[in-house]
Amino acid sequence: MAEPLRILGIAGSLRANSLNRALLRAAAELAPAGMAIDTFDLALVPLYNGDVEAAGDPPGVAAFKRAIADADGVLMATPEYNHGVPGVMKNAVDWASRPPGSAVLGGKPVGLIGASPGITGTARGQSQLRQAFEFTNSFCMPQPELLVFKAHEKFDAGGVLTDGPTAQYLQRYLAAFAAWVGRFVSNSEGD
Ligand SMILES: Cc1cc2nc3c(=O)[nH]c(=O)nc-3n(C[C@H](O)[C@H](O)[C@H](O)COP(=O)(O)O)c2cc1C
Repeated sequence: MAEPLRILGIAGSLRANSLNRALLRAAAELAPAGMAIDTFDLALVPLYNGDVEAAGDPPGVAAFKRAIADADGVLMATPEYNHGVPGVMKNAVDWASRPPGSAVLGGKPVGLIGASPGITGTARGQSQLRQAFEFTNSFCMPQPELLVFKAHEKFDAGGVLTDGPTAQYLQRYLAAFAAWVGRFVSNSEGD
């Protein structure tokens, strides 16, 4: 039997009540058969510093890189700050882009999703984050997109996704992402 696709979910927010963490939890619950989503907490990743890197990756960075390397694909749930990528998320991508040429993000299938209380649902933040994956040589799924706008109305106080249409969009997104990751992963018997 084929192994499930192992997806690493990364939320670009450190807030306990983060909408993007909640979106990732919903994704883990709604993942299609054959896909398992684990998450990595970016609180473990310090600010990038080339001097620190030169002395050896700190434990949180090493764990982060290992988690990406072990995953078949990466699903990033990004907030949007000031029409761009929050520093927490960009910092994580910067660490994982190192060293150039043999970074764990190289050749890795990536999916972008995001949630914000505003009406654009992280459109600009996702667009900017997508640019970073050009440089890392990652395979960022072009379509579909998942922009969860007015997200504060779509999760309950406990961070559970309660909006039916959003759950359906998320399921469709995840089905497409499974197919996308499957293009880059050979996990059937005999392969
Ligand atoms: C510094 C800052 C800048 C923000 N800029 C934007 C923005 O440009 N667009 C937007 O939709 N929301 C913006 N927001 C609101 C965030 O979308 C909102 O705080 C969201 O809940 C953050 O994601 P999280 O819930 O996963 O932490 C901003 C919030 C902060 C703190």
